[in-house]
Amino acid sequence: MTDLQTVTAVRHWSENLFSFRVTRPAALRFRSGEFVMIGLPGDNGKPLLRAYSIAAPSWADELEFYSIKVENGALTSRLQHIQPGDEIILRPKSVGTLVHDALLPGKRLWLLATGTGFAPFASILRDTETYERFEEIVIMHTCRRRCELDYGAAVVAGLAATPLIDEMIGERRVHHYATTTREDSPRMGRITDMISSGKMFADLGIAPIDPANDRAMVCGSLAFNVDVKALLERHGLREGANSEPREYVVEKAFVGEGA
Ligand code: A2P
Repeated sequence: MTDLQTVTAVRHWSENLFSFRVTRPAALRFRSGEFVMIGLPGDNGKPLLRAYSIAAPSWADELEFYSIKVENGALTSRLQHIQPGDEIILRPKSVGTLVHDALLPGKRLWLLATGTGFAPFASILRDTETYERFEEIVIMHTCRRRCELDYGAAVVAGLAATPLIDEMIGERRVHHYATTTREDSPRMGRITDMISSGKMFADLGIAPIDPANDRAMVCGSLAFNVDVKALLERHGLREGANSEPREYVVEKAFVGEGA
């Protein structure tokens, strides 16, 4: 069977989150922020596939994915047990709207995520194009518990040790604003509330949202995406697409309940 890739590394971040790397198929060309279908052979011989954002940037030799573990989930209940050397199915065709091509040029980029919605931003953040296009980047990530922020924090911390990116972030302002909603942490509250109340702007000492300069990528649960879209539209930003770049783009974090 074609489309098989070998697992090279697995890291468990909490009892319900893990990330893993696999070999990159020679045929796969992708833009940072896109997703592919991956999975395992199903009981009936048919592949059991789900959409996963590629968390690695487009230049990477290996692919990375960040996943929830759903106890009774058809795929993730099995996928969470993969080990280096195992094989997974990966269809080498990528698509998605969380890409630079779908945004008009701007000065400040917002990456707004809940939960595993951070995955495409792990790709965007490790792509030099992000720093070529924007002077300032604001990463906002909200999760229920502190341990669910660890993967995102590790990706952001790793930027300073990523070749080329390390040089570029020195000249840019990169803000990482991570919050929890159901466990005490230094910053508590939903992204939407932190923006609406102005607290986040005061905490970071940054300018208000301006549709002339601000661009945003949004990736979280359906309810989150709906609320953030409304908030951005109130600030004068319009939704873009590959065919019509505008001020913000949005995509649902794919791997959720039941996955
Ligand atoms: P909350 O705990 O207040 O619901 P979930 O696990 O349900 O997908 O949620 C992940 C994180 O996203 C939680 O911190 C949750 O906050 C937050 N969240 C869920 N829905 C929204 C929304 N509509 N707007 C802002 N944050 C949200």
